[in-house]
Amino acid sequence: VRAERCVVAVDGPSGSGKSTVSRRLAAGIGARYLDTGAMYRAITWAVLRSGVDLTDTASVAKVAGEVKLHIGTHPQGYAVSVDGVGVDADIRGPEVTGAVSAVAAVPAVRELLVARQREMIVNAGRMVVEGRDIGSVVAPDADLKVFLTASEAARAARRSAEDAADVAATAADLARRDRLDSTRKVNPLAQAPDAVVLDTTELGIDEVVARLRDLLTERGVA
Ligand code: DC
Repeated sequence: VRAERCVVAVDGPSGSGKSTVSRRLAAGIGARYLDTGAMYRAITWAVLRSGVDLTDTASVAKVAGEVKLHIGTHPQGYAVSVDGVGVDADIRGPEVTGAVSAVAAVPAVRELLVARQREMIVNAGRMVVEGRDIGSVVAPDADLKVFLTASEAARAARRSAEDAADVAATAADLARRDRLDSTRKVNPLAQAPDAVVLDTTELGIDEVVARLRDLLTERGVA
């Protein structure tokens, strides 16, 4: 079966394997892929470029509302741009990573991006959406909700390998970001009550993807 509509919500902390799992799953079932973290990162890039103070939430919200954010949805390569400037590399850099939790905590920024995300999901029909609040807020009616976890050590090891960074520094940064993302007032990182929880510390990526495909088959959507 190949349902016209198939929305998969993948949430979890940084380094839990969300991106790899989501992209492979999307490619495997012929769906689009949306990296909502990249959207928060792109807005953060714009805020840093504008020079406004990160604690001035009204100005942060104003920048977010004025920039033209574009993000592709192809699982094997999607470009992100802000006002026509390609930001794919810059949004993964330390400046953006250090500031993104603060920007993502601004309610007006979330309102704006959640609306954009919902619109993109409806237009795509079949989409794997990755983030922190997808199953809980953005797409509560998703066909499948997944919450990926992994031990702190495994997450830090993966992230430092990706960024060629020091493991101890990465571990500290992950812990700081997780704390900010899980404790913010609006739409924190949350496990939806009906989410399937998978621990990727021991499970390989291929096993996780296979599990999810089985679940989608059982549900008759992919
Ligand atoms: O997944 P990521 O590391 O690229 O996400 C970057 C930041 O964006 C993360 O620290 C929290 C925030 N984020 C969010 O608040 N809500 C989402 N749906 C996705 C990401």
